[in-house]
Amino acid sequence: PVGRQFGFVVLLMALAGCGGGQSALNTAGREAASIALLFWVMLCGAVVLWLLVNGAFYYVSRIAPGRLDTRHARSVLIGGGIVLPVVVLTALLAWGLSILPDPRRPGDGLVVRVTGEQWWWRVEYWPEGAETPIVTANEIRLPAGQRTEFRLAADEVIHSFWIPALGGKMDMFPGRETMISLAPERPGVYRGQCAEFCGASHAWMAFAAVVMPPEAFDDWLAAEAADAVPPTDEAALRGQEVFLSEGCGACHTVRGTEAVGTVGPDLTHIGSRRTLGAGRSTVTLENLGTWITHTEALKPEVRMPSYALSEGDLADLTQYLKGLK
Ligand code: CUA
Repeated sequence: PVGRQFGFVVLLMALAGCGGGQSALNTAGREAASIALLFWVMLCGAVVLWLLVNGAFYYVSRIAPGRLDTRHARSVLIGGGIVLPVVVLTALLAWGLSILPDPRRPGDGLVVRVTGEQWWWRVEYWPEGAETPIVTANEIRLPAGQRTEFRLAADEVIHSFWIPALGGKMDMFPGRETMISLAPERPGVYRGQCAEFCGASHAWMAFAAVVMPPEAFDDWLAAEAADAVPPTDEAALRGQEVFLSEGCGACHTVRGTEAVGTVGPDLTHIGSRRTLGAGRSTVTLENLGTWITHTEALKPEVRMPSYALSEGDLADLTQYLKGLK
């Protein structure tokens, strides 16, 4: 029964998309709700149409072949096979187009610029009237009940920005800006994922999308805008020295220090993020250590090289990074 096993696997794969923080049917925003409604209505419409068309076909070919005269049979076939599908599909199409979210709808003030990098997300917050952005990476926080405009681009290859629980996806291109407008409504933590194959670590290009009550979001954004708090404990102080002397600052920024690189993710508040390596793992001392010493093992072909550090240096460095809140 290979066929049955295969069918079972396909069913499991189909069901795997139904729950959790990365489901387009477990909606937390207005755009996603429209898309989920569209999905269910299209599905029901397709089922009804399939039953009616096949019912008509079955009736004409099996039940009444001898009883219907040719003209009557033809009208059943034309009605059920052409007129009915055209009417139903046209109605579904018209309604579907009317309900589709407009990706260019203006937001309520906050603009978030996201750039797809290999393989991580550069994130810039532009609150209304801001002249410089608040830069972070690999995590997107949003105020619930407000519409946010996303301006999307890519560094070298095409990526695609998608938070299934909040709305549809939008491609990100090098040298061209695209836009998507999302109105999250339900606070929670959802999962965003790159939805366009972009190389070896495409599957590891994810992020946490955190929808917060508006006041909590404002507090968070103010904290995010601040420079890194200088470390106070000895291990973290030594860790900062390791960070600077190993040249981490050539690629990474920690605002308030000499580290001003922009090739890699901004690490000013890495300790407060939910994930490390763009959704790869959680931010623990152990995972930070594994990331620094075995980047390639966690993310194939990643740009960041692995570093061979002494155990003591590594412990201090991870302590420093974890403390960047
Ligand atoms: Cu970026 Cu796939």
